[in-house]
Amino acid sequence: MTEHHGWTPGETAAKDPHSDPDHDRPWWQGAVFYQIYPRSFQDTPVQEWSAERRAAFRLSYPSRELDDAGGDGVGDLDGIRRRLPHLAGLGVDAIWLSPFFRSPMADFGYDVSDHCDVDPLFGTLGQFDRLVAEAHEHGLRVIIDFVPNHTSVAHPWFADARSSRHARHRDWYIWRDPVRPPGPDGDPGPPPNNWTATFVDGPAWTWDASTGQWYLHLFLPDQPDLNWENPEVIEAMHRVMRFWLDRDVDGFRVDVIHGLGKDPALPDDPPELVGIPHSALNDDPRTHPIIRDLRRLVDSFPGDRVIVGEVFLLSTALVAPYYGEGDELHLAFNFPPLYAPWEADAWRTRIDRTAAELDPRGAWPTWVLSNHDNARHRTRYGGGADRARAAALLLLGLRGTPFVYAGEELGLSDAVVPPQRAVDPGGRDGCRAPIPWEPGPSHGWASDEPWLPWPPEADGADAATQEDDPGSFLQLYRHSLSVRRGSPALRLGAFRWLASPPGVLLWERTHRGERTVVAVNFTDDPADLSGHLHGDWRVAVASDSPARPGTRFAGTLGPVAALWLQPA
Ligand code: NOJ
Repeated sequence: MTEHHGWTPGETAAKDPHSDPDHDRPWWQGAVFYQIYPRSFQDTPVQEWSAERRAAFRLSYPSRELDDAGGDGVGDLDGIRRRLPHLAGLGVDAIWLSPFFRSPMADFGYDVSDHCDVDPLFGTLGQFDRLVAEAHEHGLRVIIDFVPNHTSVAHPWFADARSSRHARHRDWYIWRDPVRPPGPDGDPGPPPNNWTATFVDGPAWTWDASTGQWYLHLFLPDQPDLNWENPEVIEAMHRVMRFWLDRDVDGFRVDVIHGLGKDPALPDDPPELVGIPHSALNDDPRTHPIIRDLRRLVDSFPGDRVIVGEVFLLSTALVAPYYGEGDELHLAFNFPPLYAPWEADAWRTRIDRTAAELDPRGAWPTWVLSNHDNARHRTRYGGGADRARAAALLLLGLRGTPFVYAGEELGLSDAVVPPQRAVDPGGRDGCRAPIPWEPGPSHGWASDEPWLPWPPEADGADAATQEDDPGSFLQLYRHSLSVRRGSPALRLGAFRWLASPPGVLLWERTHRGERTVVAVNFTDDPADLSGHLHGDWRVAVASDSPARPGTRFAGTLGPVAALWLQPA
């Protein structure tokens, strides 16, 4: 086992106030999360699959051949378990697993057909339990995706619901009559309102001819929305959460949580917003009591478990209320910074906005640069290594909980996916390329050709090669995470801007008498900070040179570079 970071499973909020002066701060405030997209992380040779998994796979995927000499090219839970030493060695505190539940995979697992089982593509419940237990032994907490807004069309609830208007589960979904009776040709006319779906160009409604009503889906037609006005739905989804909490997960990342409450009148979106998917607009007061109930449920379990909500509303002012009065989300994603360009002023504005909206509520921010839904930030920022390296110190130096997306620590760019290999209806394949662990051709995977093409320059970007290179992304992330772990100021400290030259952001973090300064130069020219920093400073981390840490800071910040400085 690799380095252990001090948290032991079973340890809860009852930290020792004598040995830990921050015992009143929940673990997730000082933590760094690491997002794993299971399909893309690591597959396991078919030979090593358990008999139980093989049997389940054959039942679910009767037409798929399993190649005993290789892998199936889809990452799985055992593959993640095998890579736990990488994560513990990297120095993150918690992992978030994107969905691994039973699913027809129309949205690669965000279309769940059984919330309480593992899809045989990913393994078995036993393998999940083993993964959680071993992650905990490594000192890593585990949160999982919870997808409560919709199910798959293949979920038994929906199969029943669509069987008749009087079906037991009919009201578990959102059905509406046609605006006028269908014509003789069966044409149902216009949908019940003007909401548009995500990932498909068209209405958020699909006509169910056999029962003569429309059903609502904020995403694909394969993902009907659940009706959270129905207490039976609430109870069923609470059972799902308890099921996983009983299996020792440390919390949930909750998908599209702002979608749960809907005005039963289903009013039209304003005309000027039509075309923006309703999933990015739904912001109904009915959601808040729903979240308070989820929060109470999660808090009733021992061990300081956490709910991170995906509130995909592109204004921090709209995200902030989802923290409630400290009784709703523990953490909420806040995506406006993710969509900011690589420009100092744009980032300054996003950082200020976040503080202005969250601080008055005592809400703790999150920061994300990349995930499975967006082009990787290295790609978005133009593809160069310099910006992506500086961005690491930006992300890990802000006040709040950072989320690192698997492969970010290797500096990966998006894969170029030729049309014949594109599989995602939302065009998100590039950022989901498999992680290269070793130099080619199979990059440490059991299959030479995983489900998506490799990222660019996978030979060299692979983890094993970066392991031996002190100037690599991997070593930069490792070093930064270890400095962050040792710095109360970086983990939990207050934030204060310092005056800086144009194109440069300079801020100070302080906590319990400790100080760290973060400097990020967004420009292509060196910046002189000597007039802005008083006293003697030592470089703790430099994005542009592995040789600088430990040296005295002479006042110059390189072009497209970031530094963490501590008093000399
Ligand atoms: C947000 C998830 O991050 C995304 O991947 C998914 O497609 C939608 N929600 C629908 O579940």
